Amino acid sequence: MQLLPGFRDFFPEDCARRNYILAHWREVCRRYGFVEYDGPVLETEELYRKKSGDEIVKQLFNFCDKGERAVAMRPEMTPTLARMVATRERDFKKPMKWFSMPQCFRYEKQQRGRLREFYQLNCDIIGEPSVAADAEMIALVIDVLRSFGFTENDFVVRVSDRDAWLAFLAAKNIDVPRGQEFLQIVDKLEREAPEAVEAKLKSFGLTLDEVRAFIANPGEHLEKFNELSAELNARGLNAFYQLDPTIVRGLAYYTGIVFEVFDRSKKLRALAGGGRYDNLLRDMSDGKVSLHALGFGMGDVVLGELINDTPHALEKMQHWIEQRPAAQVYLVIAKEERRSTALADAQRLRELGFRVDFSLTPSKVGKQFQAAEQSGARVTILYGDEWPNVKFKTLATRDEFLAAHDSLIAKLDELKLTIEEF
Ligand code: HAM
Repeated sequence: MQLLPGFRDFFPEDCARRNYILAHWREVCRRYGFVEYDGPVLETEELYRKKSGDEIVKQLFNFCDKGERAVAMRPEMTPTLARMVATRERDFKKPMKWFSMPQCFRYEKQQRGRLREFYQLNCDIIGEPSVAADAEMIALVIDVLRSFGFTENDFVVRVSDRDAWLAFLAAKNIDVPRGQEFLQIVDKLEREAPEAVEAKLKSFGLTLDEVRAFIANPGEHLEKFNELSAELNARGLNAFYQLDPTIVRGLAYYTGIVFEVFDRSKKLRALAGGGRYDNLLRDMSDGKVSLHALGFGMGDVVLGELINDTPHALEKMQHWIEQRPAAQVYLVIAKEERRSTALADAQRLRELGFRVDFSLTPSKVGKQFQAAEQSGARVTILYGDEWPNVKFKTLATRDEFLAAHDSLIAKLDELKLTIEEF
């Protein structure tokens, strides 16, 4: 039985890594005052046809359900968010700061950092037009990545403004309706052969040189960028971002400031991407709800690759995982007549929040110690000849001491085993 291409099994060690990523995503979002929401995995296909753009529609996992509805697995969260906000917008104070960590699906060609199933952190601010919100968003994406131990030497946020490109087109007397098509060419500039790009630009009466000249010197079109810089620099984040007009984003709904995050060594695909989408809510609600909006998405796949490639980030993750072993305390039952006492202790310790394990059936003491090591337990408690004392052993140091069974909990407290949330 084979796995579908681009899908993953999550064995316990993979789940531990996934939990590490999700826990940090959630923790940093909360530090920024964001609240969590979620939506359905399956939506009507129309939701994505409406506004996401051709590229996403081509990548839909879509089918007809038994009620003959055209449905699709969510390839991204933004249309769901727009739909949800349009339904109950009045119930929430603005600006709304929301995050979600959906599993998304795209029928893409599988490659490094791109699968057909991935988790995607989504952070969005609804109902705030000021550049201060764009700055807050970029500060958040930076801090999410810093929480994994990455520094300004590991990644960079490349920021641009779609409006600057639209002003460029206007100056060349090119119709705004064709703007989307033009932005798609800019989006692929770095990935496509210059001749192919040149051919496409020709239909706009433009040359690659003109486009490159604008990229090198976007000049007065970028006042918003200066405002944004002031906000980010006030936070001390100068080293984490740069202006890069080649960033325009592939999705159709973006309107103003847009950004993408890349690893500094440029080995990987984008770690995250986002920007403003000030018209999406209006367009999705047929004009009923019109609210400014902006946000970003960050996938777990490229992030996981960058963690693997970055020794200090990898070490941080391994440390976190080691802090959360399957068991903290392993009860070694050397005398079967003590089993019922051990069971009562296991129950009591588990109620206190300790992770406790023991052999379910009689087994040799040596085997039980082996199982204790494998479980990651820090301490074993042996029920044997020493009764009414029990024998504690700290597995890392091999230190042993006897304690009266009555004082078991007090002794465990002295060992200060931390009880982790996850
Ligand atoms: P996106 O650029 O399509 O934007 O995706 C954002 C991030 O999701 C990417 O940078 C990447 O990390 C991850 N990602 C996308 N596709 C895949 C894939 N096939 N495999 C693994 N990871 C992937 C959006 O989806 C926007 N809805 C983000 C947004 C939220 N904009 C505003 N709010």
